[in-house]
Amino acid sequence: MNIIQQLRQTIQGPQLTWCIARAVKLSTKSFKKEIDLFHSIRYNFGKSFSSSGTFYSTSSSACQHVAIVGSGPAGYYTAQKLLKSHPDLVVDIYEKLPVPFGLVRFGVAPDHPEVKNVINTFTNTANSDRCNFFGNVELGKDLSLKDLRDAYTAVVLCYGAAEDRVLGIPGEDLPNVLSARSFVGWYNGLPQDAQLPVNLDCESAVVLGHGNVALDVARILLTPISILEKTDISEHALEALRRSSVKRVHIVGRRGPLQVAFTIKELREMTQLPDTRTVIQQTDVDGIDKYIQDLPRPRKRLTDLIYKSSVSPGEKEVKTWKEASREWRLVFLRSPLQILQDTNGQVKGIELAVNRLEGDSLKNQRAVATDEREVIHCGLILRSIGYRGLPLDDDLPFNNSRGVIENKNSRIKNEKGLYCAGWIGHGPVGVIVDTMTDGFETGKIILADIQSGVLESNDEHKRQGLLKSLQAKAITFSDWKKIDRAETEAGAKVGKPREKISDIQQMIQIAKS
Ligand SMILES: Cc1cc2nc3c(=O)[nH]c(=O)nc-3n(C[C@H](O)[C@H](O)[C@H](O)COP(=O)(O)OP(=O)(O)OC[C@H]3O[C@@H](n4cnc5c(N)ncnc54)[C@H](O)[C@@H]3O)c2cc1C
Ligand SMILES: NC(=O)c1ccc[n+]([C@@H]2O[C@H](COP(=O)([O-])OP(=O)(O)OC[C@H]3O[C@@H](n4cnc5c(N)ncnc54)[C@H](OP(=O)(O)O)[C@@H]3O)[C@@H](O)[C@H]2O)c1
Repeated sequence: MNIIQQLRQTIQGPQLTWCIARAVKLSTKSFKKEIDLFHSIRYNFGKSFSSSGTFYSTSSSACQHVAIVGSGPAGYYTAQKLLKSHPDLVVDIYEKLPVPFGLVRFGVAPDHPEVKNVINTFTNTANSDRCNFFGNVELGKDLSLKDLRDAYTAVVLCYGAAEDRVLGIPGEDLPNVLSARSFVGWYNGLPQDAQLPVNLDCESAVVLGHGNVALDVARILLTPISILEKTDISEHALEALRRSSVKRVHIVGRRGPLQVAFTIKELREMTQLPDTRTVIQQTDVDGIDKYIQDLPRPRKRLTDLIYKSSVSPGEKEVKTWKEASREWRLVFLRSPLQILQDTNGQVKGIELAVNRLEGDSLKNQRAVATDEREVIHCGLILRSIGYRGLPLDDDLPFNNSRGVIENKNSRIKNEKGLYCAGWIGHGPVGVIVDTMTDGFETGKIILADIQSGVLESNDEHKRQGLLKSLQAKAITFSDWKKIDRAETEAGAKVGKPREKISDIQQMIQIAKS
């Protein structure tokens, strides 16, 4: 079959006319050139060009194909760098959920819509003809790392941190002792957490940890419904929060005000919550004012706000706090010892050790328990002491204590063609901008390895075989757009930016309709 016959089989309309014109012009060249032309035309037309109705793009075997696992910020920023800097490279993004964007969709708080604007950047990348999205495909279940390594020039693991740290204290597995990770998933419509048994029938809640996730979950517990109902918070969570009796949230950290992990914007939001009082004991901030001047700028402003909120709040705050019906308390130097239960096995409080700090460097001071003990009575406990990554494949060199894949500058130790980026590579800390920098750096490193000849071209037959085997299951980016449309339409009816679908079968049904 000559080139023109092949083209007739694969395209129609104006594209065909253009391609035939190009093919005829070049048809005097050697047969090999014809084949190259055929591939290059197919390649440039990308996905829309496929003859068998398949959903994946085709390309010349000389092209480099990179697989990315995980469609959060690390995945999309790595893809962006690769696609922008290499004219031919093709990226296939595999995602275990039917929907993209990782923690931008399932982590970022519903009352922070501006943060989610990065989705527009990811969508631009996803719309490239050289970028494919295969949702509903899970590494470790639907395909193995070996499948990917056999089929691609390079594989980049960007699958984030799917677990959380535990305290290992008695009572941690009682009902209503929940990880903040699951609670966040619950209010953000993450399918696995949609049915989380959250009981808000108590006046007092404790959040353990002094990071931004702790402030996120505390803020959601205390924010008036009139504000939350205009966000994309999940309907089941909104309904539970409407009936909530929670009036007081204690945010408990093991160290002092100079060591908190949260940031100023999130603290300020807490101090400005409507109808909510901020309580920071003056004894806890005594003496920290003398350090403020010498702290690095972000820490200086943050510490200043903690100090002033305790010692000399502004007029507006004083007025609101005096009349407020709810409150949150910032509790320092306390470590959880055990969770206390009543005779029905329900949480009734938490016993804490009172700590002192040891060590010279303020930032790295350690909490050491004294003999003093204290109990906070509460009916709900949210553990917010950090996320944790998992290995996912036995062959991966993994640092279990840090929950990260062993790597040096994104290159996975002793594994040619295998890279990682984002939280699974450097641990579960850092905001989206930090993850962006990491994704861009990872992209650069892969490009350098392609340039220097370290990486070989992939086996395109194997890649096509793999894609074919996943075809019935995988959700493409245009499938996702159908889900997106259904969610935004449902949201518009109730004055929300979107009503998230949290049932996987329903997502698939809409996507494949
Ligand atoms: C609760 C919370 C709120 C946050 N809020 C903000 C904020 O307001 N502003 C800000 O700048 N930063 C925020 N961050 C930080 C930000 O979310 C992270 O920096 C960023 O999401 C990390 O990106 P990542 O791609 O490494 O991981 P993730 O975003 O977690 O993406 C990982 C992706 O991999 C997928 N995956 C997992 N396992 C598999 C598998 N086996 N196969 C295929 N795919 C898989 C996951 O489903 C997910 O889509 C927040 C973090 C949390 C936890
Ligand atoms: N709005 C936002 O921008 C936003 C929102 C949410 C999350 N994020 C980002 O996402 C990342 C993760 O946030 P995170 O809050 O999960 O983690 P984090 O910032 O690492 O905070 C974890 C907190 O848990 C405490 N902790 C850890 N182990 C503990 C233990 N065994 N006992 C008691 N306390 C313990 C830590 O205290 P020590 O310091 O003493 O270890 C720290 O206060 C951060 O980079 C965060 O900034 C950003």
